[in-house]
Amino acid sequence: MNKFARIIGTGSYLPPTIVTNDDLSKTIDTTNEWITTRTGIKQRHKVTDETTCDLAEKAANHALEMAGINAKDLDLIILATTTPDKVFPATATMLQTAIGASCPAFDLQSVCAGFIFALTTAQQYIKTGAANKILVVGSETLSRIVNWKDRSTAVLFGDGAGAVVLSGSSDTGILHSKLFSDGNYLSSLQVSNNYINEVGFIKMSGNEVFKIAVNRLSSLAKETLKEANLSSDKLDWMVPHQANIRIISAVAKRIKIPMNKVIVTLENHGNTSAASIPLALDTAVRDGRIKKGDNLLFEGIGAGFSWGSVLVQF
Ligand code: UT7
Repeated sequence: MNKFARIIGTGSYLPPTIVTNDDLSKTIDTTNEWITTRTGIKQRHKVTDETTCDLAEKAANHALEMAGINAKDLDLIILATTTPDKVFPATATMLQTAIGASCPAFDLQSVCAGFIFALTTAQQYIKTGAANKILVVGSETLSRIVNWKDRSTAVLFGDGAGAVVLSGSSDTGILHSKLFSDGNYLSSLQVSNNYINEVGFIKMSGNEVFKIAVNRLSSLAKETLKEANLSSDKLDWMVPHQANIRIISAVAKRIKIPMNKVIVTLENHGNTSAASIPLALDTAVRDGRIKKGDNLLFEGIGAGFSWGSVLVQF
């Protein structure tokens, strides 16, 4: 039986339409300076007619190509998304058909921690021998649930997708992972809708979320490294959820990881929820920063709250 789930391919996709901070300052009361200094975000990508499945398909095909495997060889597809294309069927089943796979496929909803939850779920399938080749995708069209008149959220979010292909391995891969949820924070970050002719929008108490994110993610990262017996100087890269550069740098400082070992891509795409970690990962794999054998720490928190980490030897 394979002990590890190893990442053998990564892929990502951003829709071509870009909305810059200056574009937003023409329609809402904000400035490029405020957005850049408070968040680190410079632009976000936005779909015009593409769906969550379309973005997922492109990211998945890139990851399959890097992995050198055919979609027909997949044993399972897990799609992490907060913005499924329909209430049902699962967007993952549409993705299965789009890429030409025939394995079981399901959606997983854990908002910005979705990719971490999906990766951890996939790891369990591999560890138990229930599956050997798994596609894990994070794909979001958050622009559909952003209130473009609310400056406190409109500047933060973007659309995109990232994917990984996992394969069973006897020697290396996912070393450790931790998941948490605490449903006491519903009002801090949510989309309220009742499914009856009503589209809900993201509502967030940003400052409250910010403080909780820094505290929870710092303790989580410390615990993950400790339980895996890995000192922070043995970590090659932290690949965090891309929500706010100030959250990322505060966590890095608390766990004593220098910023030149942190992958930051949010300036290019903003907060893409479940897609943000695989998007950052794929960027750094393809530009050569992340290399085979590197120790990587993924971590993220989102609404619920739900939060988690995955430590990987790449
Ligand atoms: O991925 C899921 C998890 N989500 C997150 O991690 C997001 C966490 N939160 C954050 O990233 C930050 O809290 C924000 C970027 C959302 C806000 O930054 P902040 O430093 O916490 O600002 P704030 O909410 O305390 O607002 C400061 C001021 C307020 O004005 P007053 O009351 O001081 O006069 C806001 O009205 O900034 C104002 N403000 C803006 N000004 C210009 C809020 N949004 C904007 C804006 N442009 N877009």
